[in-house]
Amino acid sequence: MTARKPDLYRELAEQLRGLLAGETDRTANAANMAALIYHGLPDINWAGFYFRRGQELVLGPFQGKPACVRIPLGKAVCGVAASRAATVLVRDVHDFPGHIACDPNSRSELVVPLLPVLAGMAGEVLGVLDLDSPLLARFDAMDQAGCEQLVALFVDHHHRYAG
Ligand code: SME
Repeated sequence: MTARKPDLYRELAEQLRGLLAGETDRTANAANMAALIYHGLPDINWAGFYFRRGQELVLGPFQGKPACVRIPLGKAVCGVAASRAATVLVRDVHDFPGHIACDPNSRSELVVPLLPVLAGMAGEVLGVLDLDSPLLARFDAMDQAGCEQLVALFVDHHHRYAG
């Protein structure tokens, strides 16, 4: 799996470009992106979005079990990633103080902020992409780089074409 990860993320980026092309609705595009990731990456039990509304994150489109709806900025893994404006990679969710267990099967997590700067633009954090896995230490630097690239495509698309 490890040697093929860059290829897998290249394929996902290509498919995401295709899904986004010509469509400006952020909810529809986020829903398709969550489905693409959930079904395209192995060993994932939750993939989806939280969007920033003021001082909290509110649940957006996702695949997986029902999740908590509101997360304050700075709280849990998602809120920390949003307030730091930086990706948070959690090897073992049991070691992350304040982690919210939406699915008790989740063991590791990757949260990428939706940052205009990832797409080469200025602006505030728009939300986060959250991925959970039932495997310990499922995510590594290649997953981080790959998901940051997917997020950059999404953010760039919506900065150009949508509100
Ligand atoms: N585990 C996340 C909460 C969201 S669910 O996993 C979908 C967190 O601690 O931020």
